[in-house]
Amino acid sequence: MARLAMVTGGQRGIGAAISEGLKAAGRRVIASYAGNDAAAAEFTERTGIPCIKFDVSDFDACLAAVAKVQEEHGPIEILVNNAGITRDAMMRKLTRQMWDDVIDTNLGSCYNMCKAVWDNMSAAKFGRIVNIGSVNGQAGQLGQVNYAAAKSGIHGFTKALAQEGARNQITVNAIAPGYVDTEMVRAVPADVLEKIIARIPRGRLGTAQDIARGVVFLTADEADFITGSTLSINGGQHMY
Ligand code: CAA
Repeated sequence: MARLAMVTGGQRGIGAAISEGLKAAGRRVIASYAGNDAAAAEFTERTGIPCIKFDVSDFDACLAAVAKVQEEHGPIEILVNNAGITRDAMMRKLTRQMWDDVIDTNLGSCYNMCKAVWDNMSAAKFGRIVNIGSVNGQAGQLGQVNYAAAKSGIHGFTKALAQEGARNQITVNAIAPGYVDTEMVRAVPADVLEKIIARIPRGRLGTAQDIARGVVFLTADEADFITGSTLSINGGQHMY
């Protein structure tokens, strides 16, 4: 049977392209989403990819969702931790709530979801995990102390877990997208975004498909020797 992939935040933006890319590569795919029922229904209707609603920052909700998916569809063999939010503000306006929301959703979720699938993957002696980091976790970004910390944390998390998974053929890698043409990036003030694009050697925003191609590559059965790595897909904006 085709391998089962779960993509958090998998029905919008980069996540939607990842879900569709994995499906096109022959995977069975389940997408998670946080709240937008209409968008999820439309996505399932259009792609045939089922969606499941839960909050990735809630540990118990992650355990319950993974258990449900595995009961209905079998073991999750590919996990893509893609769900993420921004709460951008300069430090003087950055509230504790904005800090917690971003750390819990973007970084806490990686722990929650990996914990939920880890024992099964270890017993099966196969797993592919891809965590979606960010160029801003590598290089930092003004107005994103919370987001850069969470994304930077993802890169350390990936390298540590990769060392633990290696003995059981579980690979754990990260992708660090640059600025990709999604709703999240379109929310950046136009003048700020213009300056950012001017610093991208490739001269354009990325597409969600640019990122999805990396996920398909890293989750292939043949990618067995790639683990603990970060694939930067950023148009040359930051060479790390
Ligand atoms: N260096 C230092 N100070 C700067 C500055 C710079 N480059 N640019 C602006 N400032 C200062 C201004 O002079 C101003 O200072 P004064 O008030 O003393 O004059 C101050 O910063 C502006 O502060 P405000 O809090 O009033 O700013 P704001 O409310 O207008 O907006 C912001 C701040 C929300 C951070 C806004 O600039 C912003 O959204 N920036 C974009 C952040 C960004 O790139 N986010 C990426 C989102 S996409 C993503 O995250 C995906 C991914 O992985 C790549």
